[in-house]
Amino acid sequence: MKILVTGGTGYIGSHTVVELQNKGFEVVIVDNLSNSSIKIVDNISKITGIRPLLEVFDLTDREKTADFFKRNNDLKGVIHFAAFKAVGESVEYPLKYYRNNLVSLVNILESMGNNEVQNIVFSSSCTVYGEPDELPVSEQAPIKKAESPYGNTKQISEEIIGDTINTSDIHGIALRYFNPIGAHESALIGELPLGIPNNLVPFITQTAIGIREQLKVFGNDYPTRDGTPIRDYIHVVDLAKAHVIAVDRMINNKMKKALEVFNLGTGKGYSVLEVIKSFEKVSRQKLNYKIVDRRAGDVIEVWADPTFSNHELGWKAEKGLDEMVLTAWNWEKALLNKINE
Ligand code: NAD
Ligand code: WQD
Repeated sequence: MKILVTGGTGYIGSHTVVELQNKGFEVVIVDNLSNSSIKIVDNISKITGIRPLLEVFDLTDREKTADFFKRNNDLKGVIHFAAFKAVGESVEYPLKYYRNNLVSLVNILESMGNNEVQNIVFSSSCTVYGEPDELPVSEQAPIKKAESPYGNTKQISEEIIGDTINTSDIHGIALRYFNPIGAHESALIGELPLGIPNNLVPFITQTAIGIREQLKVFGNDYPTRDGTPIRDYIHVVDLAKAHVIAVDRMINNKMKKALEVFNLGTGKGYSVLEVIKSFEKVSRQKLNYKIVDRRAGDVIEVWADPTFSNHELGWKAEKGLDEMVLTAWNWEKALLNKINE
């Protein structure tokens, strides 16, 4: 059972490669290493004992993508992670995001059609819901106008997949992730933010380890229990496991519709200050932070209704906030040790 994992040396992709290999799938990764390191392949093989194949090229290259699919005509499915994901950068460079995230998807779907590869799992995002009208957010919640070109690429991608499915034998599962955090318990793979992290947890761990001076908490005057925004943080390994279940569901014809959409969240929301408290508890150190103005574009609160995923996929996020934050911290410390080696 051979699966293509695009973006498989990236954060969520690498954890998914591990879980696929643990379940006996053969994995081939395509990644252009624009936001990841080739060393991740060594670390994946340290965890699983199996070295995944890696081809380094850009999926926006139509000919290279077509050639890859021709050479790999025994693929049972594709998990498509490869994309740019920095919300703020997408506002500044929209065309960079539309080209990378949309052209790569079009190339992949075209090559799937030409080579009778029928199954695609797509990385979507809770960002498609914007500021939700009702909480928790189910898959039926309306899609709001995207707040950023990045968010728009996720909405358009779901539509591109839907339109393709209507006129072909391709089946798709779009997984809408809430806020993925944490790292593999081995601390051999994790998130590798390039430059200054945008996301909360990498900023916390980089501050604690001394790379950043101070965490800025973006606003404490929101209408929430402690004034800071609430999110549904989900451990990356729980997320990775859902991809294996989705692939299995497609290959074994268990889908109920040609395009299915699932929320991947825990169903619990935590505030920024609660995440900081959890970090201080598991790391046994105080974090240097200060409250500053709100960040433009932040939603007040969003957490998932994971009932449909729980029932239909037989999947449930298992790891709690402290474990998520501890694995992120252990990964940060492991990175420091590597730099000092
Ligand atoms: P990541 O940047 O760690 O991984 C993406 C990988 O894709 C990187 O290794 C990068 O080198 C590669 N890549 C990018 N463009 C490529 C191209 N044109 N050709 C080949 N390789 C390319 O990101 P991640 O956090 O692992 O995210 C994976 C997916 O999940 C993305 O689609 C992202 O939008 C989506 N997502 C992420 C989050 C999050 O908070 N991390 C939340 C919701 C959705
Ligand atoms: C979480 C909370 C910040 C950094 C983003 C994308 C979303 C999805 C997940 C891809 C917010 C606060 C953060 C900091 C802070 N990605 N914060 N100080 O914004 O919920 O979602 O990642 O699809 O599309 O928008 O995640 O981790 O950036 O922020 O106070 O230095 O932490 O204001 O309340 P977000 P985040």
